[in-house]
Amino acid sequence: MDRLKGKVAVVTGAASGIGAGTARLFHAEGACVVLADMQEGPGAALARALGARAHFIRVDVTSEADVSAAVDAAVSVFGGLDIMVNNAGIVGAVGSIAETPLEDWNRTIAVLLTGVFLGIKHASRVMIPRKRGSILSVASTAGVMGGLGPHAYTAAKHGVVGLTKSAASELAPHGIRVNAVAPGNTVTAMTAFVITGDGADQETTRRRIAEGAPLGIAGGPEDPAYAMLYLASDEARYVTGHTLLVDSGQTVSGGIPTFHNGPSGLIGAPKVG
Ligand SMILES: NC(=O)c1ccc[n+]([C@@H]2O[C@H](COP(=O)([O-])OP(=O)(O)OC[C@H]3O[C@@H](n4cnc5c(N)ncnc54)[C@H](O)[C@@H]3O)[C@@H](O)[C@H]2O)c1
Repeated sequence: MDRLKGKVAVVTGAASGIGAGTARLFHAEGACVVLADMQEGPGAALARALGARAHFIRVDVTSEADVSAAVDAAVSVFGGLDIMVNNAGIVGAVGSIAETPLEDWNRTIAVLLTGVFLGIKHASRVMIPRKRGSILSVASTAGVMGGLGPHAYTAAKHGVVGLTKSAASELAPHGIRVNAVAPGNTVTAMTAFVITGDGADQETTRRRIAEGAPLGIAGGPEDPAYAMLYLASDEARYVTGHTLLVDSGQTVSGGIPTFHNGPSGLIGAPKVG
């Protein structure tokens, strides 16, 4: 239970879902954790419940001053920053591209992509002089395929995957690794709201996700959190620029496995004429 002992992490979007699960897991593995979120009530409550080695700060990830303050809090409260988790997110603009208002598009990109840029920027500001660090961002299966999410969300998450590679290439000589996880459908308030219209309806959400998942189970916040635990830890010291899918195989299955369930055999060239 000490895989992150002595390390300091900032987790954005830590008041709920994947961010809360990651903050809990990192804390249980020995890290000091700064929980950063717009939602003060649940974020501060989780920090209090974790107790020592946890600190809440109210942050809007679209604000450079806020993200900078979260990174500075890690330094002033816990003495440094080893792990940055850029996780905060929203579904954002939905609907036809022809009818998407520019302001909804801009807000979505601001939270999902600019927020990640600011996290990488300010984490690297304090990590470069220390010559070490692990920066993680939460992308999505919608960051590697089209058609799985709304347009702005899909574009932003592809941007997160690209920025992960780009930042990894610059920061590797400084000893800083930059990786992402790409969750598939995961039971959180966000998916509960999308699937059932009620962010609190976890049970229906769990059942519906399990029905559509190739592995037949619904992922929870702990699933991407465990992937991030590996990437954050020194066990991943040789891994950078990578996006780790945590999606029950959704993106490799590509729908109904037409060729897997019939009799075995070899399909050669069809006879012509
Ligand atoms: N749940 C899924 O199925 C799924 C799948 C793939 C990717 N993701 C990604 O995982 C991340 C977390 O989502 P979740 O499912 O845990 O959702 P969630 O709604 O449970 O949690 C998101 C958290 O982000 C916070 N947040 C939103 N906007 C913010 C802002 N501007 N500044 C600071 N905090 C802000 C919210 O307050 C909330 O606490 C998101 O980036 C999301 O796109 C989720």
